[in-house]
Amino acid sequence: MIVDKSLNVESDLPAGLPAESAFIKEAWELLEDSIVYYRGHPVGTVAARDPYVEALNYDQCFVRDFVSSALLFLIKGQPEIVRNFLIETLGLQSSDKQMDCFNAGQGLMPASFKVETWEGQQYLTADFGEHAIGRVTPVDSCLWWLILLRAYVKTTGDLDLAHRPDFQQGIVLILKLCLADRFDMYPTMLVPDGAFMIDRRLGVYGHPLEIQALFYAALRSARELLLPNRRGEVYAQILNQRLSTLNYHIREYYWLDLQRLNEIYRYRGEEFGEAAVNKFNIYPDSIPLWLTEWMPETGGYLAGNLGPAQMDFRFFTLGNLMSIVSSLASDRESLSIMDLIEQRWQDLVGYMPMKICFPAVEDVEWRILTGCDPKNVPWSYHNGGNWPVLLWPLAAAAQKTGRPELGWRAIEMAERRLSRDEWPEYYDGRNGRLVGKASRKYQTWTIAGYLLAREIMTHPQHLDLFSFSEDPEMMEWMCMVREMKG
Ligand code: GLC
Repeated sequence: MIVDKSLNVESDLPAGLPAESAFIKEAWELLEDSIVYYRGHPVGTVAARDPYVEALNYDQCFVRDFVSSALLFLIKGQPEIVRNFLIETLGLQSSDKQMDCFNAGQGLMPASFKVETWEGQQYLTADFGEHAIGRVTPVDSCLWWLILLRAYVKTTGDLDLAHRPDFQQGIVLILKLCLADRFDMYPTMLVPDGAFMIDRRLGVYGHPLEIQALFYAALRSARELLLPNRRGEVYAQILNQRLSTLNYHIREYYWLDLQRLNEIYRYRGEEFGEAAVNKFNIYPDSIPLWLTEWMPETGGYLAGNLGPAQMDFRFFTLGNLMSIVSSLASDRESLSIMDLIEQRWQDLVGYMPMKICFPAVEDVEWRILTGCDPKNVPWSYHNGGNWPVLLWPLAAAAQKTGRPELGWRAIEMAERRLSRDEWPEYYDGRNGRLVGKASRKYQTWTIAGYLLAREIMTHPQHLDLFSFSEDPEMMEWMCMVREMKG
């Protein structure tokens, strides 16, 4: 038994909110049952424990899924499981990641791992995407790993772990993989489709926002974790440069509000050279009709993706919320994103916090973008489904922007259904009223996400574990760029 369930429910709640102690107790018990043990030690949590359907790979510990459980364990004074997870996954980083004799980059972290027994001995086997449906690359795993390592160090003060030679080597391998020179003109990270939480084809290849927000948070984490020796100093310079250019690029080119929409609407195409206003050659006709009505007078958000003549105007939730949490978005933009969520609550939160993206792609667009994926039909799963795990980043963003009432409103909404519906992985429908058609029950990150959201709301100081304030280096750099541009 490693979980401390001693949550002081009554005194932690704001006045007037009913004590949902039964849900909390149930959730803790379920979370405890999901723990994976390896050679007698807790090392992670399984993705789901659904008694009704075949497990497939949901009996594995996914790196991205474990993050919400891990933060919760850290908060509750149970860091050993997180430490073990960090050590074991680091060990897997250097293992074979081969498909058809081709080797993936060394720094790659697995999407998931499981414990297997062979001749009475337990072993960990990892999946770097070579077994996953569609053979997708788990780019986000190494980014979450860095974010989690920082959270562990912040909670425990155990900087020695991060400074161990194997950890320093692991950090450098990730950085080498992420910062390698490629055929790219932007500071954003170029990834294939399905490289993150959306791990199926959905037209999210190129420079999707979620990866950029995690990339930014991961680079900031690495900067804090590298030993200040010669190698560390060289990397610190590279990191400062990349963080500033990445931040500038996202704020300058991904931001969308009514004013920006008006600018794009009147963009000229085919501009050549340095003075081009429409740098990416976005054609006004590509602005989707829904957006011209949906964009509120006040409020805005970061676009889902940007490339040559391509702006993905969909709202991607985790990318936007993590941009707030990591301060990739400016303070003003962060407030605007929360304004938009409040004003478009019915679309984005509906009956279950919260939509993974909005709106869904339908008809021909669905055929082209998903390759006719029956799991990603409109308003289901990744294509506009509602994912309760997004409750914790929503709570974090609400808390960080001084909008706690939005966090509580979402939690209350979730509490009406999560336990009754047996903690589903996702919900379907325009407003998230239906339990997802192929959704797992007893999904661990749904359970942990709910508990973590409550913790963030009742103890705002926990935000420090995984959030960042505005980067002072960035402010200096912005001033320099503005001066240069006159
Ligand atoms: C689905 C989700 C993915 C998650 C996995 C395990 O594939 O799309 O984000 O990590 O399930 O829960």
